[in-house]
Amino acid sequence: MQNNREQWSSKILFLFAAIGSAVGLGNIWRFPYIMGEYGGAVFLFVYMFFILTICVIPLICELSIGKYTKKENVGAYAIVNPKLKFFGWINVITATVISSFYFVVGGWIIHYIYINFINHKLENHSDYFLSFVALPFLPYILTLVFLTACVFFVYRGVNKGIELGNKIMMPTFLLILIVLAIVSISLPNGHKGLEFMFKPDMSKISFEMILAALGQSFFTLSIGAGCLLVYGSYMKEKENIVKNAYLIIFADTIFALLAGIMIFPAVFSFGLKSDSGAGLVFITLPKIFAQMPYGSFLAILFFILLLFAALTSAISLAEVQTAAYIENFHLSRKKAAGLVFVIIAILALPVSLSFGFLSNVKIFSKSFFDLFDFITSNILMPLNSIIICIIFGWFVKIKKVLIFKNEYIYKLFSVLVKYIVPLVLTILMICGLLK
Ligand code: PHE
Repeated sequence: MQNNREQWSSKILFLFAAIGSAVGLGNIWRFPYIMGEYGGAVFLFVYMFFILTICVIPLICELSIGKYTKKENVGAYAIVNPKLKFFGWINVITATVISSFYFVVGGWIIHYIYINFINHKLENHSDYFLSFVALPFLPYILTLVFLTACVFFVYRGVNKGIELGNKIMMPTFLLILIVLAIVSISLPNGHKGLEFMFKPDMSKISFEMILAALGQSFFTLSIGAGCLLVYGSYMKEKENIVKNAYLIIFADTIFALLAGIMIFPAVFSFGLKSDSGAGLVFITLPKIFAQMPYGSFLAILFFILLLFAALTSAISLAEVQTAAYIENFHLSRKKAAGLVFVIIAILALPVSLSFGFLSNVKIFSKSFFDLFDFITSNILMPLNSIIICIIFGWFVKIKKVLIFKNEYIYKLFSVLVKYIVPLVLTILMICGLLK
């Protein structure tokens, strides 16, 4: 199976896929509402600081280990040292747990495309959303629809499926985002939204905000779930990792900023609240679209955008799992993709029901949805990143994998990867858990 391992057909298709993985609900849904909650511009600066200095390191490690070993997570760690195989599995588990709630939100998006398509007018957006997610069957069935679409691309393989999906979805996605951002800025009072985003309010600085910025940086760059490692393993020999890592970061940030520019001017223009939390996209925005000319059309565009963003990320999550089952259980791609379908379908059931039928079931006083989100963003993703930095710094001959223009940059990188990044991440992770 290893001999005929697929590779990206071109550099640009690799970038589409990697950026497609990074840009997702994290940019369009999570970033604006978390930024709204933590006061806009200050959050943005802290967040930028984190992605450029700290997060880029595990990102480089993931791509490098993938590219160097040409294996998925478990095999890749095993090549570095057979004793490390277990840590590869933790990445696969992380991707599986993220999938269980990410795919549920994917199902909600499909529903919102549908209700706008049939031009269903809502009386109360908030009640509608809350009663929809509490339904026992429909949201779960739509989760399965989303899952089927995703597994379809993964089942078709790297070139015929993953590349194809990203090639169609990423450019369409960017185009829709730009159109909607222009519509939003041209609304009356739209500039207030931009001010909110870019004018810092120093009173909002808090330790909690710093932790939120860190969690967001991991989530948005897809670090710590093995996605970039697997995508890196399909890279061609001549690709430059550091340059690609910064390109991924740059593109991800542009998408997140565009999403903010699409959302906040509209929110301010209609006098709505910028800190309405997770409901921002499913409650506040539909309220805005309902009051705009051509609102249903714009809403359909918006939710298609969200769907594509979610799907391209979901594909990378499913690929981590599929590649691991193919290479470790010696399954065909078809069977491995089928297994991924079954596992996610089972795990997503309690998550979907946690808004209704199982809403009283709490583990550590969290619903299934919140629990899975918390475990992955606050524990597993930072933990995997600490581990990969340590493994890369201490077990891999860095110079064999990465080319450095000068010795100082090499020294700086080694100090960061061996000591500083693992230490900073460990401190922040522990503080986050004790909070
Ligand atoms: N980066 C994706 C987003 O922003 C989420 C994701 C996390 C995808 C981890 C893959 C792995 O939505």
